[in-house]
Amino acid sequence: MRRGSIAPLLGIGIVAGGIAAAVALALPWLPTPASNEADRIDPLFWFVIVICIVVFAVVIAVMGYSIIRFRAAPDDDSDGPPVHGHTGLEIVWTLIPTLLVTTIGIYSAIVLSRNDALGANVLHVNVTAQQFAWSFSYPDAKGLTTGTLRLPKDRSVLLTFTSKDVIHSFWVPEFSQKQDTVPGISTSVHITPNRLGTFTVICTELCGLGHSIMRTQAIVMTPAAFDKWLHGQASAVSSPDSGVAGAAVFKNNGCGACHTLSAAGATGKAGPDLDKLAAYATSAGKPLEDFVRQSIVDPNAYIEKGYHPNLMPATFGKALSKQELDGLVQYLISSSKKG
Ligand code: CUA
Repeated sequence: MRRGSIAPLLGIGIVAGGIAAAVALALPWLPTPASNEADRIDPLFWFVIVICIVVFAVVIAVMGYSIIRFRAAPDDDSDGPPVHGHTGLEIVWTLIPTLLVTTIGIYSAIVLSRNDALGANVLHVNVTAQQFAWSFSYPDAKGLTTGTLRLPKDRSVLLTFTSKDVIHSFWVPEFSQKQDTVPGISTSVHITPNRLGTFTVICTELCGLGHSIMRTQAIVMTPAAFDKWLHGQASAVSSPDSGVAGAAVFKNNGCGACHTLSAAGATGKAGPDLDKLAAYATSAGKPLEDFVRQSIVDPNAYIEKGYHPNLMPATFGKALSKQELDGLVQYLISSSKKG
């Protein structure tokens, strides 16, 4: 190394590293974790970021110094000196990355294996993705199916994914993990929520026209509240009172994310306004009940002006039991009359 080069190299490196570190620290890149798995992934992420910042500073220092110090004069058209490599330097720049990458690999393997280790008393949830909605069913509650994901705090949850059509991807930023849902195979992810709250479930794989609205909520509840909800919903959906059952089906399936319905306090705008069902039925030239039933079972049969076909899951109605479907139809009819 040339005499007098240490100070400028260090200077450039510190400035470059400082800028990169400031960018890394100033912006809120990651949400506050809400699962044991995220608590393990976040430090790994920062470990990699620190390595990247150091490597970045070294590269910028050497490059910046070389650009300034060895710049050819404007009228210098001669070739550079023939350099045939430097064995010592090459060993160093091979060994250091090998060590860094191996360390990251070992650390990642440890995090992955800990994150995959299921705790006791695992809650199983089957997740179905389809254009453009999520549904969650709970085998422990006789297959109760909902459109919002509810989870108990501090309990191992194993989500098992299937897709009815194309590839989607499940992502809750606060849980830090993403999992593709692929038609024809089943995939899974293990989550141990450790913070109460409502988080957004996002589809993070471009899957069609409604990709950007393919969102729902993950609600982390206390174990007692979760058990109460699970049993309450299982009985509400099968309630002989069609109003109670229909309201539960509407809420559980996340209909309010896309539809407005005053009776349910729903204000979604992507799909038709369900307070206006009677007017829509008139436009479609059908009796109200037939129209409502058809629109649930075969959403593309009649498309109200100003709305897109293929946004509502075509198989939505087929996933409901007859009892759930009847309840939902009666609920929508009576609610829209009030609204
Ligand atoms: Cu489903 Cu994007």
